[in-house]
Amino acid sequence: MRRTVLLFAIATGLALGAGCGKNDRPPPPSTGAPDMQTETGPKGAQAGKIPQQAELLFREKCAMCHGLDGTGNGPGARELPVKPRNYTDPKWQESVTDDEIRKIILLGGMAVGKSGNMPGNPDLKDEPDVLEGLVKIVRRFGKK
Ligand code: HEC
Repeated sequence: MRRTVLLFAIATGLALGAGCGKNDRPPPPSTGAPDMQTETGPKGAQAGKIPQQAELLFREKCAMCHGLDGTGNGPGARELPVKPRNYTDPKWQESVTDDEIRKIILLGGMAVGKSGNMPGNPDLKDEPDVLEGLVKIVRRFGKK
């Protein structure tokens, strides 16, 4: 009986001692990579940054002329004397800067010496995220 108690005491002491030792140790260094990808999926990273509002605006307004596929075949483009560009053309994609795309979306074709049929969207001045999203949408057509 006495032996059992003694053994128990020793065992408990060891356990406590071991426990304390463990708790004193600093936590192991984090193994997480610094550039861990939280957004997975093939298109996740690219599409995730485009605000829904920009996607909607493109579908409801821009696609009328530029087409849902970005080739410029929207129903509104049929009667236009100057047809919208084909966004999927890699040569066109290379020929313009994001700044130029941003400017024509904001100010319209007339402001940059192009067709006045390309309407401006001056209200997007206060919604830079949406404007940026539209630029990305235009660029996305070039990534096939
Ligand atoms: C009423 C038809 C129409 C609508 C709506 C329209 N566009 Fe356009 N867009 C045009 C035309 C036409 C051009 C070509 C202008 C030119 O080359 O002279 C153009 C040109 C552009 C260009 C420049 C292409 C280049 O050659 O540099 C961009 C970028 C653009 N549009 C984006 C948009 C976005 C984004 C929207 C929606 C917010 C939009 N457009 C809505 C007709 C339209």
